[in-house]
Amino acid sequence: MGFTQRTMFCGEPRVSDAGRQVTVNGWAHKVRDLGGLLFVDLRDRSGLVQIIFDPEKGTPEVRSETCLSVTGTVRERDGANKNANIGTGDVEIVAETWEVLNQAAVLPFPVSDESQMGKVNEELRIKHRYLDLRRPSMYRKLAVRSSLISRIRRHLDSKGFLEVETPIITKSTPEGARDYLVPYRLEPGKFYALPQSPQQYKQLLMVAGIERYYQIAKCFRDESQRSDRQPEFTQLDLEMSYVNQEDVLNVIEEMTLDVVNGLIEEFDLDKERVQPFARMTYDEALAKYGSDKPDLRFGVEIFDHTAASKGSAFGVFANTVEAGNFVRGLRYEGGAKLSRKEVGELEELCKSAGAKGMASLYVEDPANEIEGSLRTGKGRRVRGAAAKFLVPDEADRLIEAAQAEPGDLVCVVADTWAVTNEALNKLRLHIGTARGLRDPRKLAFAYVLDFPLVEWNEDEQRWDPSHHPFTSPKSADMQYIDTDPGRMRADCYDLVCNGVEMASGSIRIHQPEMQARVFDLIGVDKQAQQERFGHILEAFSYGAPPHGGMAPGIDRLVMALMDEENIREVMAFPKIGNGYDPMMDAPSTVDEAQWKDMGLQITPAPKP
Ligand code: AMO
Repeated sequence: MGFTQRTMFCGEPRVSDAGRQVTVNGWAHKVRDLGGLLFVDLRDRSGLVQIIFDPEKGTPEVRSETCLSVTGTVRERDGANKNANIGTGDVEIVAETWEVLNQAAVLPFPVSDESQMGKVNEELRIKHRYLDLRRPSMYRKLAVRSSLISRIRRHLDSKGFLEVETPIITKSTPEGARDYLVPYRLEPGKFYALPQSPQQYKQLLMVAGIERYYQIAKCFRDESQRSDRQPEFTQLDLEMSYVNQEDVLNVIEEMTLDVVNGLIEEFDLDKERVQPFARMTYDEALAKYGSDKPDLRFGVEIFDHTAASKGSAFGVFANTVEAGNFVRGLRYEGGAKLSRKEVGELEELCKSAGAKGMASLYVEDPANEIEGSLRTGKGRRVRGAAAKFLVPDEADRLIEAAQAEPGDLVCVVADTWAVTNEALNKLRLHIGTARGLRDPRKLAFAYVLDFPLVEWNEDEQRWDPSHHPFTSPKSADMQYIDTDPGRMRADCYDLVCNGVEMASGSIRIHQPEMQARVFDLIGVDKQAQQERFGHILEAFSYGAPPHGGMAPGIDRLVMALMDEENIREVMAFPKIGNGYDPMMDAPSTVDEAQWKDMGLQITPAPKP
């Protein structure tokens, strides 16, 4: 069916167009019937323009989101009616002819009023995503995402990278999650797996001599969902041959600076330009921030009081050190003014991370005779749960270790390395938020280097790769492979930003013997090595070059740029909580004939 096509976008008309006849196509954004006149704000992806219908010429039947084509003449508005808030606010279009291209039914939620969207149930928005995406704020996120991807392509193409597509129905590539499986009709009992990442293919492309590869790659992982995880997501997957760690880090850093700073400018994002990346080792990150993905928009570093707590008068500290564990803490600047209830909340936060408690020491003004406060050996005034045990000497040492001043609160957790890390990381982020230190205008990118090769899996009683099984151990640490594997470091690195992991990568193993040794270490027996990874072991035997790479998450980069805490906000068609797509109603049942044809039998789901 024909219709009158636009000669202008809704966001374009200006005073200089007055007197011109134009046609616009779009949706009725707002409809106001002022008795005599009908005003419709017509919206397309470029913006809005006001249309006036004169009832003497008849008016169309328009509701919110009716799709229209309108032909009319551009006219300058009277001074008083000008609207400085929109680009076309100095003009309006006086309608002459129109077509209702499609009427809109009653909407499940208001599309035009962005201020109402926070109140709309998210599942309802995703069920009607085609309406949700009509809103300019959603369009903008997709536009940033689109530009991010094209900027990445332009940058890497200019550096001699080749974009290569790799298969989606393939064999399992482990990245620590469950696979999504696709049954193979011709041989019941056999399955393809959707790739958790293109990891093996990209390494095989290095064996194939591509040397510089990238791909905007869909990855699939059946894992528990979090606000920054989706079952299906997108990576910039990248790999290079004949490189060392430094080469890969430089390529990703240079690209990120170019792409992100370009986007900040293009979209006038409220962000400071990204600076060259900070760098630290994994051990340093845990020691200072209690996390391998620290938020570096602010300082507030953990201090270690373990050695000084040996034989402490405070039993909790002394016993912790005796057991070989740690006494560590944070200075909460200005925290002495917190109420008992607020400090109780800090303690609950530490407990939610597995700590048995949190010892707090209020550092007060020495001149201030507060009831229940005590004097330290150096004349400081303190109070709090641990004060009476620590006074007179130890309190001074603790305050000096924390570099605390009068008015501060010193928070201490005594526990294992892992628990002190988790508790103090949570506490640090809380302090950062409470003190307004997590500036939304900053993007604090940093490389975290030298991750451990393997981690002990207590449930399964085995070593698991901390990254993936293709990661190269540091050659200096090969001496520990049989005796103390937990001590081995890998040529493995993450890129973090504002407390979120943005990318991971490593230098890979490229020799079959070494790959087999690492498989042995992580408990993949010889038969499984052949069945699951025989192809890659064989490929490595034909002169595989040294290689390494990295994979930033595209969704997470857009989240950081757009200040979104929820990954679903930056994806066109995300899944909700349990991996369900309410718009398509997927997953859904299929015809019995279809699954029988696959040789499948359906048994009731096991009780949770
Ligand atoms: P890794 O598993 O660390 O490494 O993933 C790399 C990056 O992908 C993003 N990411 C996700 N984003 C959204 N939802 C998810 N479920 C999800 N899982 C991961 C993160 C993460 O940093 N093959 C290796 C990379 C390599 O070694 O080159 C890999 O996939 O931003």
